[in-house]
Amino acid sequence: MSVVSGLDGVLVAETRLSRVDGLAGELTIGGFPLEELAPNAAFEEVVFLLWHDRLPTSAELIELRSELVGLRTLPDPTLDILRAAASKSLPPMDALRMGAGTLTLADPDPSDSSTAANLARAKAIVARLPTIVAAYWRMLNGQEVVKPSAKLHHAANYLYMLKGTEPQMDEVRGLETYINSVIDHGMNNSTFTARVIISTGSDMISAVVGAIGSLKGPLHGGAPGPALDMVFELRERAQASGKSIEEEADAYVREVVEAGGRIMGFGHRVYKVRDPRADVLGAAADKLFKTAGDIELNRDARAVEQVVLRVLEELKPGRGLKTNVEYYTALVLHGLGFETPLFTPTFAVGRVGGWTAQILEQIAEAKLIRPGVAYTGELDRKWVPLEKRSGSRDG
Ligand code: ACO
Repeated sequence: MSVVSGLDGVLVAETRLSRVDGLAGELTIGGFPLEELAPNAAFEEVVFLLWHDRLPTSAELIELRSELVGLRTLPDPTLDILRAAASKSLPPMDALRMGAGTLTLADPDPSDSSTAANLARAKAIVARLPTIVAAYWRMLNGQEVVKPSAKLHHAANYLYMLKGTEPQMDEVRGLETYINSVIDHGMNNSTFTARVIISTGSDMISAVVGAIGSLKGPLHGGAPGPALDMVFELRERAQASGKSIEEEADAYVREVVEAGGRIMGFGHRVYKVRDPRADVLGAAADKLFKTAGDIELNRDARAVEQVVLRVLEELKPGRGLKTNVEYYTALVLHGLGFETPLFTPTFAVGRVGGWTAQILEQIAEAKLIRPGVAYTGELDRKWVPLEKRSGSRDG
């Protein structure tokens, strides 16, 4: 048997949650084309769709929203942990991982692994992740924590807890389009991590904590901050040199790729054409960008994108390196006034809907995930007592 490095192309489970067609550039979520679902649905509707395989009726949506409202508050020890993290200025993804791990304290019966208990747990995790991120962000910035608002729906409440003021409708729509777009995406690394953990019979909170750890990595969810920083850096370089941003981008991509680096926001394990989420988010960004500065940034980002695509094709021909979701995530979240350290935690606020649904699917599958590995070490070594060993310190 040969090793499939990175499990590229290996099917490890069946799912009805999302389908990624990397060659056609199509994403289906719960049976809906992304373009149909993301800009229209409320986040709670998409979560319900993933959990129950159908859209909610209006009574069911009201009920789910009210349940989520009732679950948003954090246990005091969670806030204590977040304060400790803020005192050390830890990155928000570390604080989110630490905070999420404390949610067992709010679980009425952590030993109950019935389907009903797991669905209730999924609701509690989805409801509380935004509270953790927003509370931590405000602590980190020396601001009073804003308590959740019982009258606001999920996305609006997240914006409210972050900013302390009620958001505009178009901001809520922009955020909701984003979190709907990233809610689930086949067997991505964080989802796989969650499924691996839950497949041992472990608990949902452990699985979500593992998924948060996976999402933090720059090859997965950690790219949008650096992607936007690149555009800012190129603007500065252009200002300093008097050259156009396109010329600076051309030189930058060559510099990075020739040094063995990667351009953040480009390339994808599955998509070899443009990531369909980029277009949905590009349209959402256009709606959000109103100030002259933002409009200019939007224009610069699109100009940089074209240069990156051209130079990547020249330097790495045939690899199909196209714009991925992270590039446009950066634009949408910037349009919402978010600073870059908030980008990946906000991705988690969306993706947790998918993680919980995938965990529920894996529980139903009831199969331990345990792949094989090709051994490349030595065989038949003979034991040497400590006093007779010589050579390197490693023995
Ligand atoms: N910039 C420059 N070169 C790249 C990039 C990039 N962004 N991505 C891949 N390549 C090159 C690699 O260097 C490699 O070149 P080689 O054939 O000369 O060795 C080739 O393309 C294939 O790269 P792999 O790492 O084998 O491709 P893989 O499918 O494993 O990578 C990944 C996918 C990790 C997303 C990669 O494209 C990357 O690092 N992109 C930048 C980070 C990023 O934007 N991550 C967010 C992804 S979206 C998400 O997870 C939500």
